[in-house]
Amino acid sequence: MLANKTIVLGITGSIAVYKAADLASRLTQAGARVEVVMTEAATRFVTPLTFRSLTGRRPIDMFDLDSEPGIGHIALAKMADIVVIAPATANIIAKLAAGISDDTLTCTVLATRAPVIIAPAMHTFMFQNPITQDNLAKLRARGFIIVEPACGRLASGGIGQGRLAEIEKIIGTIKQVMGKSDDLAGKCVVVTAGGTQEPIDPVRYIGNRSSGKMGYALAKAARDRGATVTLVTAPTSLPEPAGIEVTHIRTATEMKEAVAKAVSRADVLIMAAAVADYQSKSVAKAKIKKESPSLTLELVRTPDILTEVKGNFLKVGFAAESEDIVANARRKLDKKNLDLIVANDITDPESGFGTDTNKVTIISKDGKTESLPLLSKREVADRILDRVVGLLKR
Ligand code: C5P
Repeated sequence: MLANKTIVLGITGSIAVYKAADLASRLTQAGARVEVVMTEAATRFVTPLTFRSLTGRRPIDMFDLDSEPGIGHIALAKMADIVVIAPATANIIAKLAAGISDDTLTCTVLATRAPVIIAPAMHTFMFQNPITQDNLAKLRARGFIIVEPACGRLASGGIGQGRLAEIEKIIGTIKQVMGKSDDLAGKCVVVTAGGTQEPIDPVRYIGNRSSGKMGYALAKAARDRGATVTLVTAPTSLPEPAGIEVTHIRTATEMKEAVAKAVSRADVLIMAAAVADYQSKSVAKAKIKKESPSLTLELVRTPDILTEVKGNFLKVGFAAESEDIVANARRKLDKKNLDLIVANDITDPESGFGTDTNKVTIISKDGKTESLPLLSKREVADRILDRVVGLLKR
């Protein structure tokens, strides 16, 4: 989605400048045309040559006669699909809030009609100062998108909020903003992910091997296509995706409650989670001791979320199958009254739980059956969403 898009990357004088090199590289690799604009202070931390090498384009400075000819702040402002300032110092934030335009970056931002993302990076005290907070509030009110800085160790010592947000989060926000005009714009999509954990005692639980990767890929793909996404996730080791409302749950019952709440305004529910089918009838209050030679657990069924959830939205389910894949999936589609079911062959070592790839067959209520080759989970997510978009148009 970033291919052939023009991203103006504004870089200001914070020690986090070195991270902007990674951002510029990742955006360029994604196919974007990255036009870098550095403030004078930024060039003291990292030279423009770094960015020229990474983007294949000379950073723009309207006062530098050696800069790219014909590209000044107005041309930049017009050609930008998006402007991203990362890292953004307290100084640039103050200047933009005050409407000051005294260099290429501030002039470009003032002249552009494109969305502007600001990723602040500074010491906690500077970030928390009411002056900075007021300036950020002013910018927010004017439609600027702020990627909140992270908490952690600061270059100047100490620990606090002020570190530049993770590059992954900045890219996620860029994709979310740019996806606004895409084919899921205005739609609300609820996705579930991961494997639920059903407690036995305070230490143990019944779990499964789901990594959550398929659900997270679906949530991010829907976000990138313009949807407002809610992700209801069981515990995973995956980073929280940017631009998505995330609800963390542990058990099937908690997932059921979170889904019921989230679907109130949903157009689509995609249940990619591996929900436990059984839970322990009773949960021991204390850790169960290994005293007896055997232990019998009584299990009872968990609620079937897909079957029980009601509302006027498309329902998409998953079926992890090891035999008679299509026939079994079709049966589930009918039984759970789904619009689409995605069957995956869990006997294939490159498909299913924990892998980055998946081999699925997508079946719709009207019987249309589409078997896809082995693809990345992100590609599978987009193919599923293509079908969802088709159904939403009906
Ligand atoms: O019946 P089965 O577990 O194979 O169905 C899989 C589909 O149903 C998945 O989409 C899964 O998220 C959903 N499911 C559910 N509630 C359960 C079990 C599965 O919604 N208790």
